[in-house]
Amino acid sequence: MFPYEKVEKVPYGGDYNPEQWSKEVWEEDMRLLREAYIDIVTLNVFSWAALQPNETTYDFSRLDEIMELVTKNGMKVCMATSTGAHPAWMAKKYPDILRVDFEGRRRKFGGRHNSCPNSPTYQKYSVALTRKLAERYKDYDNIIAWHISNEFGGECYCENCERAFRVWLQKKYKTVDALNRAWDTAFWGHTFYGWDEIVAPDMRSEHFDEERTCFQGISLDYRRFMSDSILDCYVREQAAVKEVLPDAAVTTNLMGFYKPLDYFQWAREMDFVAWDNYPSNDDGYTRIAMCHDLMRGIGGGAPFALMEQTPSVTNWLPYNALKRPGVMRLWSYQAMAHGADTVMFFQMRRSIGACEKYHGAVIDHAGSNQARVYREVAALGKELAALGKQTLGMRTKSQIALLFDWDNWWGIEYSAGPSENLRCLDEFARFYEALRGMNYNVDIVSPDMALDAYRLVVAPVCYMVKGSDDARIRAFVKNGGTFVTTFFSGIVEEHDLVVPGGYPGKLRDILGIWVEEEDALPAGAENSFVYRGKTYPATLLCDLLHLEGAQQIDEGGYGSDFYAGMPVVTKNEFGAGRAYYLATASNEAFYRAFLANLCAEQGIEPVLKTPAGVEAASREGEGGRLLYVLNHNDEAAVISLPKPMRDLVSGETYPAGDHAIAPKDVRIFQQA
Ligand code: GLA
Ligand code: ZN
Repeated sequence: MFPYEKVEKVPYGGDYNPEQWSKEVWEEDMRLLREAYIDIVTLNVFSWAALQPNETTYDFSRLDEIMELVTKNGMKVCMATSTGAHPAWMAKKYPDILRVDFEGRRRKFGGRHNSCPNSPTYQKYSVALTRKLAERYKDYDNIIAWHISNEFGGECYCENCERAFRVWLQKKYKTVDALNRAWDTAFWGHTFYGWDEIVAPDMRSEHFDEERTCFQGISLDYRRFMSDSILDCYVREQAAVKEVLPDAAVTTNLMGFYKPLDYFQWAREMDFVAWDNYPSNDDGYTRIAMCHDLMRGIGGGAPFALMEQTPSVTNWLPYNALKRPGVMRLWSYQAMAHGADTVMFFQMRRSIGACEKYHGAVIDHAGSNQARVYREVAALGKELAALGKQTLGMRTKSQIALLFDWDNWWGIEYSAGPSENLRCLDEFARFYEALRGMNYNVDIVSPDMALDAYRLVVAPVCYMVKGSDDARIRAFVKNGGTFVTTFFSGIVEEHDLVVPGGYPGKLRDILGIWVEEEDALPAGAENSFVYRGKTYPATLLCDLLHLEGAQQIDEGGYGSDFYAGMPVVTKNEFGAGRAYYLATASNEAFYRAFLANLCAEQGIEPVLKTPAGVEAASREGEGGRLLYVLNHNDEAAVISLPKPMRDLVSGETYPAGDHAIAPKDVRIFQQA
């Protein structure tokens, strides 16, 4: 759980690395940060080499001073464990800590996030350091959370990992026979007779390149194993903190749709979810919202921490575009609208050296409180201080769930067909962005989570149907739910083995169709179909399907090619509910029209109807309902309020009817 008992307002601050500059500057840092209403700092993210100069010596003197400094200045602390980058001496002495990359090269010392998760050295010394930190700082009440390592990720193909993989497989499959069946090793004569014949699937073994593999089953299991191995590193350190501080709130900073780690598994272990929001220059607001909603979804709907965002530029993008005036504030409130209960930055002061010296910071190289970015940070700090507790702890209520699953993501993109242009997130985003663009609250849930709270469940490209997922969907529809899925669904079970007997496999009865063939269209090529009187493009993949109880609800099927006339959009009445199938991919106008119709039929209302580019999202709790309205446009927009509403930010009450919101401006309307 997020440590609500230790906060009185939205914690506001972020990464502070004073060990990177001289002490003369520290008091000035504190003055400037306090003046900007900063009240939380994340400390000690990359200090392992300083804290442990050699195998037997630990030196906490500088961290002690930093803790004194920030505590004296009334700051709360998110205490990191520093294990995101190992010391050079350790790599020299114990090369097992160095990762082996996908090409089979053992890395040398360098970079960060660079330790092998199955290295005995890493396991021993990361936990030892974490325990020492917990012991040393356990009496500081202002430490409100512990931050394990930093942005866990990547992968390793070393011999320790390979050995651990075999153990993981043995636990999962029990017998080599079962493993042979799961991986379909009769193909290309891969039958294994002993666990020690199995090697890690990399460029030296099963792979043509990162995504193309001879054996999807092996590569998938390696991904699962690697996600578990790295999660074990988190769990070990978390346990070390809790040995000393059983009630500590422990987390780590996740990265949104980060493919290598199955965050649904991760969130189960974390006390609360935290994540770093660094959109690309061309991400629209609905794409950013999608990441926030995933981060809320993995935690089962619980609020999360916005652990990092840049106050201005992100230095590692192809070009460092400035966040325009008002955008940092707007995106901070957007995070809150989707479930964030902190607003935090990377970083407090710009370093003068190395690869992040041009990354945005609250205090820039000039050190001036007159800089635009600083003034914007301070202004938002003042607003958050005035908001106090009012926004904390509230939950999003949604009648719509989008199913997302890492296994499915991995499976689709390892799949060896039907199209190299089929990207799991692109297909997912078509549905999410259409719904969010119309201001429907959306929950993102894993297929093994409960569905009964929802009226509409959408599973874009539900390629891999695992275990009893189909039973859960079947029960949901039978009980009156509306289910939507698309082409390339129900094809395989959890080992990526095709479910024989016709596509879409275990979803076939629910959908009332048989998909006989699937045609992949080259980029730019289009077929067409008509839905409710309008013609839409059919792109990417076109299923050739037969009705088995479902009805065709497009008008006249595909417009051209040898399968002209075959159904594109189908609906199957099933129990008390209905299941829709979309046999192809289309454009935004189609997804909006289709989903808006389903929502209207099911009585699902958008949070508020607004002009394009004005987002509305809501959260609810004991203090009532908060309606966030965010104008992402460069121009003012007019919204229409159904009744008078008080805005928590300005304190003003707006009468029912039309009123204008300035570009990038925000309202948080409180409703009883
Ligand atoms: C990540 C890291 C930070 C910093 C920022 C820069 O989120 O966690 O340490 O490198 O990126 O964008
Ligand atoms: Zn390894």
